[in-house]
Amino acid sequence: MSAVTGRPLERVDGRAKVTGEAHYSADIPLDRLAYGVIFESTISKGRVVQIDTQAAERAAGVFGVITHLNAPKLFKVNMFPHGPAGESLVPLQQDTIYYSGQHLGIVIADTLERATYAATLIDVTYEEQTPTATLKDALERKEEPQALPAPLVKQSNASRGDLPQGLAEAIVRIDQTYSTSVNHHNPMEPSATTAVWDDDQLTLYDATQWIFGVRNAVATMLGLSQENVRIISHFVGGGFGCKCFTWSHVILAAIAAKQVNRPVKVVLTREQMFTSVGYRASSSQHIILGATREGVLTAISHEGVLQTSKVANYLTPVGLLTPMLYACPNLVVNHRLMHVDAGTPTQMRAPGEAPGMYALESAMDELAYALKIDPIELRLRNYAESDPQSGRPWSSKSLADCYRQGAERFGWERRNQEPGSMHDGDYLLGWGMATAAYPVYRSPAAARVKLFADGHALAQSGSHEIGTGTYTVMTQIAAEALGLPPERVQFALGDTLLPNTPVTGASRTVGSVGSAVLKAAASARSQVVQMAITDHLSPLYGHLEGQIAAQDGRLYLEHDPSQGESYGDIIARHHLEFVEAYEETLPRDADETDRNKVFSGINALRGPVDSKYAMYNFGAHFAEVRIDRSLKEVRVTRFVGAFATGRILNPKTAGSQVIGGIIMGISMALLEETVTDSQTGRLVTASLADYHVPVHADITGIETFFLEEHDPFVNPLGAKSVGEIGIVGSAAAVANAIYHATGKRVRDLPIVLEKLM
Ligand code: MOS
Repeated sequence: MSAVTGRPLERVDGRAKVTGEAHYSADIPLDRLAYGVIFESTISKGRVVQIDTQAAERAAGVFGVITHLNAPKLFKVNMFPHGPAGESLVPLQQDTIYYSGQHLGIVIADTLERATYAATLIDVTYEEQTPTATLKDALERKEEPQALPAPLVKQSNASRGDLPQGLAEAIVRIDQTYSTSVNHHNPMEPSATTAVWDDDQLTLYDATQWIFGVRNAVATMLGLSQENVRIISHFVGGGFGCKCFTWSHVILAAIAAKQVNRPVKVVLTREQMFTSVGYRASSSQHIILGATREGVLTAISHEGVLQTSKVANYLTPVGLLTPMLYACPNLVVNHRLMHVDAGTPTQMRAPGEAPGMYALESAMDELAYALKIDPIELRLRNYAESDPQSGRPWSSKSLADCYRQGAERFGWERRNQEPGSMHDGDYLLGWGMATAAYPVYRSPAAARVKLFADGHALAQSGSHEIGTGTYTVMTQIAAEALGLPPERVQFALGDTLLPNTPVTGASRTVGSVGSAVLKAAASARSQVVQMAITDHLSPLYGHLEGQIAAQDGRLYLEHDPSQGESYGDIIARHHLEFVEAYEETLPRDADETDRNKVFSGINALRGPVDSKYAMYNFGAHFAEVRIDRSLKEVRVTRFVGAFATGRILNPKTAGSQVIGGIIMGISMALLEETVTDSQTGRLVTASLADYHVPVHADITGIETFFLEEHDPFVNPLGAKSVGEIGIVGSAAAVANAIYHATGKRVRDLPIVLEKLM
């Protein structure tokens, strides 16, 4: 069988995207389409006393205005701790203001311009209170962080051994606090929902990473049955986590369309993308490392305080990777939440792992300097040969090879460990490294495959294309299992009428959905093989299934390839239009409960540790920075990322994922910071002019590669996960390189130049 997976197949949807043929959720041509514009609270704490909508209602082209005064009753979605809704606040059901940017209502008009203008005519009178709107302000005001609710404790905190004992044994200690700022996702496509009612049938074209979650949340909020709600999402222009949950604008589009009896499209403005769909929480992380003179860790303490809103217990679990990373006998990982008068945070690419590994891998770097040990050597002295927390063996782990091969590509051996010792003319040079890791998360999923008499196949599975390459990789998986060239396989996704799949989040799509597609394709093929070997008109008649191979749409005898016939011939001879197979897959150790959860739009996430194995991806980052001696401007001039993530099904799309992750990590280290005005609680940086993301000129010289790795345990494909690992540890590698260049340790991201003055 010719391998289709493992090849750098071009994106099968690339042409549709560049020609504009691909319809995103705001591109759906519909008759009588109206435009919804959302208006928001300008205060961050208090109450709406009065809301005057008369002028807006009378404005030209306006069909209606909905506020908490005339909104229909919406039912609460139980989101704790990780349900489908973005927060526990139900939109437009109360006059209390919990954060700046909270949605106050929606204006619906015949054009976007008229709706936008009418929204400016809304007059809101507030009763305003003084907010504490950031984690920093709350810590300065000595507000007490809250202990985690019980279910989150179990998921996120950890301990082993005896921490005080471990610290007592330590000869060297690093005891530092690291902080990271609020970051926003900023996908190219803003969140958008187009709502269409047909009697009591609701269809939403929604930019989402989770069609089934949206269906569940919307049906629950409106009191409809799931069958009455259909979500379609064929293309999503990036999500990075902000499209995992069902945020307020989705339900506002639905109730607006009902009220004005027309299809309604709501597209968030770039500014609203900063207030309406979550963000990466700011963190304050206290890390204590204890080690012997030889650099053997005796104690690790990682305590995080994470920002969240007043209306959610959303936790950004910064300590999630800390228990598994190093073979240290004594450890405590603890998280607490600081509820502030700001919007609800959410997942953002490697939600806890990215800020958490910045802190932990910075502390490890500090330990390496304190002990005068090479940072890679320090990590190898504490290498975990099995999961130190669960005691389970790894399903696969090639981290030592990532360190070795990454170092070789980078030229690490030429590094002089002395800070400030390397230059390039007027510039200081710094080389830093850090570890990358990301759990292998798994969920149940389902898929259907149809093999047609004309020799082509259609594979279908709910799922999502968020720019990662789902269409392409699923096509490859189905083509290989069927023995068809990929050009003759079509893959359909993004519709709740298709087989059920989990959220495209936590880097689980290839492993979970891919396993279902593989199983359904194998099952369809097997049906046709059975038809052939039991059909006396077939040249394959009487042979065993195991003797039959498939290639280019032809089934043939493995030991005598001249004997065979095409799928099409067999299917047509049986007077069928197509043969169809539907299959579901459960991850190892998963059960019916997981299945039922996924199938009702609830996040059934199987963690990386099951009854037998601990399943993680690993990698190593190496960064070179060049810093202007007097201006302190930092440039990342070279970056090498080495990853071991199981089998790579498409080196091109997988490579793009880790490069994208590294760019986000560099950006997190140097540029990205959401600034809030302490007085008002309003965001100062709610635009791409003020919120800095890198442009092409900021990014250069990124080299990534995947190590060959076989993992027979994670799933039938042997593929782990590539979506998020690139951002994990990359910010630490940059921060460590900056220390190496300057001798100055900045423990607060982003490392903007004034912090280096
Ligand atoms: Mo990811 S942050 O789970 O989209």
